[in-house]
Amino acid sequence: MDSAIEDGLADKLPVSLVSSRVTMEDITALGERLEIQTARLKEYLFSGTAKKAPEFNATKLAELCGRSRDQMLRLLDRGLEPGLSDGIKGKADGGSERNRRFTLSEARAWVKATRKPGRPPGLPGATITVANFKGGVSKTVTAMSTAQALSLKGYDVLCIDYDPQGSMSALFGLTPGFIPESETVLPLMMHATSEIARDTLQESIQATYWDGIDLVPASHAIAQGEFYLPLRQLEANNRGEEFKFWDVLNKALDAGIREQYDYIIIDTPPALSYMNMTTIWAADALLLPLPPEGIDFVSSAQFWTMLSELSTGLALGQKDFAWVAAVPSKVNHQRMYTKEILKWMQGSYGDMLTQTEIPDTAAVGMEGAKYSTVYDVERYAGSAKTLSRARDAYDKLVDEIDFMTRRKVWQIPATEQE
Ligand SMILES: Nc1ncnc2c1ncn2[C@@H]1O[C@H](COP(=O)(O)OP(=O)(O)OP(=O)(O)O)[C@@H](O)[C@H]1O
Ligand SMILES: [Mg+2]
Repeated sequence: MDSAIEDGLADKLPVSLVSSRVTMEDITALGERLEIQTARLKEYLFSGTAKKAPEFNATKLAELCGRSRDQMLRLLDRGLEPGLSDGIKGKADGGSERNRRFTLSEARAWVKATRKPGRPPGLPGATITVANFKGGVSKTVTAMSTAQALSLKGYDVLCIDYDPQGSMSALFGLTPGFIPESETVLPLMMHATSEIARDTLQESIQATYWDGIDLVPASHAIAQGEFYLPLRQLEANNRGEEFKFWDVLNKALDAGIREQYDYIIIDTPPALSYMNMTTIWAADALLLPLPPEGIDFVSSAQFWTMLSELSTGLALGQKDFAWVAAVPSKVNHQRMYTKEILKWMQGSYGDMLTQTEIPDTAAVGMEGAKYSTVYDVERYAGSAKTLSRARDAYDKLVDEIDFMTRRKVWQIPATEQE
């Protein structure tokens, strides 16, 4: 570089960049500064209040229970079973019959009482891993919205955040920087010499603001798992001991957790890593969000090839899935080539492509910036039509997911499906 230009640049650049190298201490300090900033940003976004689940009126409750509003009102007056709320709040203070309100847990109690039973008794819940090694394709929003929609169908759901970015934990209103590593999935990956190592996950499960969804949260610390899993494998191989790094989550879920929940939804980071292999090995089904854009479509081909090469190359053994589905996500029909790419996706994925497309919508984008999904909003700042279109799309996607799961995981015959 011309030395005059270099001199000019040196005047403009911060002294630290010109005169010293970036040490690990600098990076640590940067990380700490950003953690504090994130916490401040969250405080600003939530105005200091914790996340709150939405409430429901009688019309919305009727929809959730698959009844007309009139049928629902009759049921409410009759009181289907003792203990179910009639939604009339504050009668003594003049609360009106017409303004019935139900909390999320009251609404879910009604759904459970009026819907057909879901998971057949005695069968384990279904584990769905949401994956794609491409970033920003809507994995986290899809995983969270799916969990919420399933809980609104009366199911009990466990979400597992496997991403060191902790975006799903943030959607639950947690600050990933403040979560102790012993309360994440990390203990499953750790070396036996570590204090936090264990092969169970029960201790990391916490309740959330959303009735019917529990969470195993994540923090950046879980990234350490990427070092420990291969190390443990190597040591076990050298000692001739039996250890399968890819089976650690599967075994932890088998230890009672699958029976405890109807659905287990795992959000993964954009990678095909050692840790991600554990989520794939624990899954009954895989869901791959896939925006119909050239580069995303091409990289999805690599995802499947790499997955099969990895499992063969590492000799991980046999693994199959009850179902695998790609869901067109962030679909924008105004964009050039969207229709064409959707056709290609249809051609290559065939039956594995969901019927439902998730639109690229301001209802998610905007709420996403505020750490919310379409199910979190009671009153949307934009047009009501935008929100209801987006919600309909997620509802339909989850109907498909539930249909495939009832049929192929729980083997419920089509005639008994709702
Ligand atoms: N249907 C949608 N319409 C508009 N924006 C969306 C939609 N789904 C997700 N987004 C936005 O796209 C961005 C990426 O979404 P998300 O975090 O779910 O992707 P991801 O695949 O989990 O990303 P990462 O690979 O970083 O984990 C977010 O800003 C989110 O708000
Ligand atoms: Mg994500």
